[in-house]
Amino acid sequence: MILNKRTRRLRTSEGIRAMVSENAVTAKDLLAPLFIIEGNNKKVPILSMPGQSRFTLDLIFKEVEELLTLGVPSICLFPALPEEKKNTQCTEALNEKGLYLTALREIKKRFPELILMTDVALDPYSSDGHDGFVDPVSGEIVNDTTVEMLAKMSVLQAAQGADIIGPSDMMDGRVGAIRGALEKSGFSNTMIMSYTAKYASSFYGPFREALDSTPKKGDKKTYQMNPTNGREALRELRLDEEEGVDIVMVKPGLPYLDIVKTLRDNTHLPVAVYNVSGEYAMIKAAAQLGWLDGTKAMAEMLTSFKRAGADIILTYFAKEMAQLLRD
Ligand code: PBG
Repeated sequence: MILNKRTRRLRTSEGIRAMVSENAVTAKDLLAPLFIIEGNNKKVPILSMPGQSRFTLDLIFKEVEELLTLGVPSICLFPALPEEKKNTQCTEALNEKGLYLTALREIKKRFPELILMTDVALDPYSSDGHDGFVDPVSGEIVNDTTVEMLAKMSVLQAAQGADIIGPSDMMDGRVGAIRGALEKSGFSNTMIMSYTAKYASSFYGPFREALDSTPKKGDKKTYQMNPTNGREALRELRLDEEEGVDIVMVKPGLPYLDIVKTLRDNTHLPVAVYNVSGEYAMIKAAAQLGWLDGTKAMAEMLTSFKRAGADIILTYFAKEMAQLLRD
């Protein structure tokens, strides 16, 4: 055959493949979610997330130090509270002497260069296991009073030194309310990374095990997005932009790569993707069974996020991927 065009020419050697490679994950793109628990020198493994644990603050320090050494610049902290600290009013969320706000303060003091992202939603503090307040009569997830609470939480988190506020709740109007509260309180440099397109997904199971935060009643479908919808993500994007968001996020990642691409093509803001607990569990489980090469599958999956247009990847693989990049 005489073929003028042969796409295989550009694939003939490691060298040429590297030269024409379009996308790469680097450690600076990664953001590691970490779970904190009360106490000292304790590490409680999360069974459905092999290799991931809930750490006490002293051990979180060690994790952060390792991540920074590996070139991972950022973490997002989630509190795993004992059941007796949870109630319907989610009061622990505003406790400046409590686990979460203390941890943010101490982490920032120790690692000023770390980009510290927070979680803003009621589920870690809620005896109902929902991201908003639950109306005791109707069972409805109440929007507006939840948003007031989220704004208060955000200001307290910013006051402890948080760099990025991360509303993961999907209430209407929360980005604007949080932005307004931050501005009014003098935290004009504190960023908001909104969970802009967060879907009501079955891939959050292992995370809810980590926090023991499965809803006691019902599901999250009245606030998180319907997995059937793509256009609706653009509506969420426009609202977040109007309300003053700094970074927009899609969650989960792998089953929603089209949404990552849609956001990338429709905003000038940085786009983040949350490679969630179930995506991590899926690869770990297959690797444990010998059905997949876990390391290669991890790298391929994380690269797919860059290809789809993500700038930032929140992933439980952050440390493992950074180690792979280093070696
Ligand atoms: C809840 C929240 C969830 C995650 C982060 N924040 C789960 C949920 O909506 O129930 C999931 C993260 C993951 O699965 O890794 N505010």
